[in-house]
Amino acid sequence: MSSRPVLTLIAAVSADGFISTGQGVPWNLPRDKEHFRRTTRSQWLLLGRRTFEEMTGWFEDRHPLVLTHSPVYAPPVGEVVASVAEALQVAAAGGAAELFVCGGGEAYAAAMPCADRLILTHVSSTLGSGVPFPDVPPTEWRQTSREDFPADATHAQALSFATYERPRAAALPANCAL
Ligand SMILES: NC(=O)c1ccc[n+]([C@@H]2O[C@H](COP(=O)([O-])OP(=O)(O)OC[C@H]3O[C@@H](n4cnc5c(N)ncnc54)[C@H](OP(=O)(O)O)[C@@H]3O)[C@@H](O)[C@H]2O)c1
Repeated sequence: MSSRPVLTLIAAVSADGFISTGQGVPWNLPRDKEHFRRTTRSQWLLLGRRTFEEMTGWFEDRHPLVLTHSPVYAPPVGEVVASVAEALQVAAAGGAAELFVCGGGEAYAAAMPCADRLILTHVSSTLGSGVPFPDVPPTEWRQTSREDFPADATHAQALSFATYERPRAAALPANCAL
């Protein structure tokens, strides 16, 4: 496989595997917001068109790529891509060492087959239904770090920051390479 940016999915996921009820992110966790801001600062990001529009005004000092089927979509910042493979090519051409997929559910699902790394915030609450995060089979993914934080006065839910790695040796689909 030729060299390409590391593909990282970054998400906050409920205890029952959802990222949203369908109407925005259903928790308010300042520690997670800061972790997301710090991790993605100055980085190349890939966002589904719906999440990109939800996060309008947020992309200063970042390089957003917007995943859409539309050939005419014109975002106010960043560039449009039609596939994860194209996003990897654009980020590589821009000199990115890593591309962070920031959701939502469709974008995570499209990127998961090519992902190398997951940075997940496990949130202690359950949602029951909503937009799911893709499965993370323990046979494919190895947890390499974890930090736990209890609920407190400013966090209604306990949360854990966890990183998972999928060894590059694992067979990836051909369109994940450049
Ligand atoms: N908890 C978290 O960490 C987190 C993070 C981010 C977002 N969210 C939540 O996730 C929800 C949105 O997720 P979502 O699944 O509805 O939408 P999404 O993934 O943000 O965006 C979906 C759109 O992306 C484009 N798209 C998706 N797959 C594509 C593909 N393979 N090729 C080309 N274009 C593709 C399509 O745009 P067009 O319709 O323009 O073709 C599609 O309508 C929101 O509630 C948001 O708050 C949660």
